[in-house]
Amino acid sequence: MTQRTLVLLKPDAVRRSLVGEIVSRIERKAGWRITALEMRTLDRATLEQHYAEHVGRPFYEPLLEFMSSGPVVAMIVEGERVIEGMRALAGATDPIAAAPGSIRGDYGVIVRENLVHASDSEESAEREVKIFFPGRA
Ligand code: TYD
Ligand code: MG
Repeated sequence: MTQRTLVLLKPDAVRRSLVGEIVSRIERKAGWRITALEMRTLDRATLEQHYAEHVGRPFYEPLLEFMSSGPVVAMIVEGERVIEGMRALAGATDPIAAAPGSIRGDYGVIVRENLVHASDSEESAEREVKIFFPGRA
């Protein structure tokens, strides 16, 4: 089942020079391909769209502030069961609970600064790809 998913390397990953490390882990997966990649600083309007499901949650405003605090690397990754696979590679939302060996489990401590975003379903992936790469819709 070939899918595509939207992956973000968050500002903490860029600040900590973990872009190469994380990209390597993705590229190591047999048959997965990065088909779009761009570094950019996200504005509020983009983040409001991306995180619309979380409006009103206590972590929403600090999350948007963090996500606009520096450049991110946005990617489309395509391949076999890549939506489920990228979520597994990222690990649980809370890095302390995330399995060792996952990106969050290996590098994260703080929930908000959990290094990566990966779409959670086919529906989310299509919605999020359109936000970040409108030309690839
Ligand atoms: P969520 O969609 O629940 O997690 P995931 O990124 O694993 O899909 O939440 C979005 C982001 O919001 C999450 O990556 C980090 C941040 N967040 C917090 O800062 N505090 C929290 O309690 C939660 C649930 C999320
Ligand atoms: Mg989510």
